[in-house]
Amino acid sequence: MTLKVLQFGASGQMARETVRRAPRHGMVLTALSREQADLADPEAVARIVAQADADLVINAAAYTAVDKAESERDLAFLINAETPGALARACAARGLPLVHVSTDYVFNGQAGRPWREDDPVAPLNVYGDSKLAGELAILGSGARAAILRTSWVFSAHGANFVKTMLRLADRAELKVVDDQVGRPTFAGDLAEAALAVGARLARDENAAGGVFHFAGEGAVSWFEFAAAIFAMRGGPGPEIMPIPTRDYPLPAARPHNSVLDCARVERAFGIVPRAWRDGLGETLAELAQA
Ligand SMILES: NC(=O)c1ccc[n+]([C@@H]2O[C@H](COP(=O)([O-])OP(=O)(O)OC[C@H]3O[C@@H](n4cnc5c(N)ncnc54)[C@H](OP(=O)(O)O)[C@@H]3O)[C@@H](O)[C@H]2O)c1
Repeated sequence: MTLKVLQFGASGQMARETVRRAPRHGMVLTALSREQADLADPEAVARIVAQADADLVINAAAYTAVDKAESERDLAFLINAETPGALARACAARGLPLVHVSTDYVFNGQAGRPWREDDPVAPLNVYGDSKLAGELAILGSGARAAILRTSWVFSAHGANFVKTMLRLADRAELKVVDDQVGRPTFAGDLAEAALAVGARLARDENAAGGVFHFAGEGAVSWFEFAAAIFAMRGGPGPEIMPIPTRDYPLPAARPHNSVLDCARVERAFGIVPRAWRDGLGETLAELAQA
């Protein structure tokens, strides 16, 4: 049976990849752009869900400007918390399953091991605070919702670390933070996981929602990630120098340990994250073709 999917977000890294991949999951996916559904307007978003001809809702849109959020707290909370809450309540009212995406930045980075879903949350920045408030609003909505927490997302589109590194490739020297560790995640793999989880929720009403971690296989620092990007691209590149976070001050604080333990999503849905290096290879190939 073909599943009808209503998705908020059309142009973002993950959103583009779900659009690309939905047909392979037996889905007809309608992706709404910001012009068609502004997440700064919770009532409008709830109305769209109330009237939708859909079997599943995916929220791939978010306020993702981590540093800007420090000075746009109200807008970040509106887009990342208030509207997802309204969206989830509208899903609950119609019995529609929901897949939503959250972040490693709900954690403070101080654990000595990968973060599990039930570990205590303590965001270090406004973006993380707003995403956590969104999680809580969805979990309290009564909707059958799966929240995928992910980290360090990259693809050939949008703003991300891979594209930033390639933009700076002709510098002689590049200083990159070496004391923040995480799991880079290819947006295509995140999209695959979201579609697989969504299909299961839509097709099996006994499938339980909740919070799940999903990130690319393998943990690295930003410095190691940068080195892998230039090594895989080949050719001449900058000399990369490791620096501590304190030497690269930004408005928003970031966790030192962002590594997500992804065992639960495998147990619940049989989803095994691919190595992020595979997704990096695909991203570099797509960028080289463009
Ligand atoms: N990027 C990361 O490293 C990262 C890490 C952890 C978690 N996440 C989470 O993963 C999910 C997907 O992230 P991503 O990297 O794909 O995001 P992204 O590339 O930054 O795209 C964000 C999307 O949200 C849309 N959006 C922003 N404000 C909106 C509004 N007011 N109304 C409607 N749409 C709006 C954007 O539309 P426009 O193009 O029109 O602006 C864009 O399509 C998000 O929930 C994010 O919080 C991301």
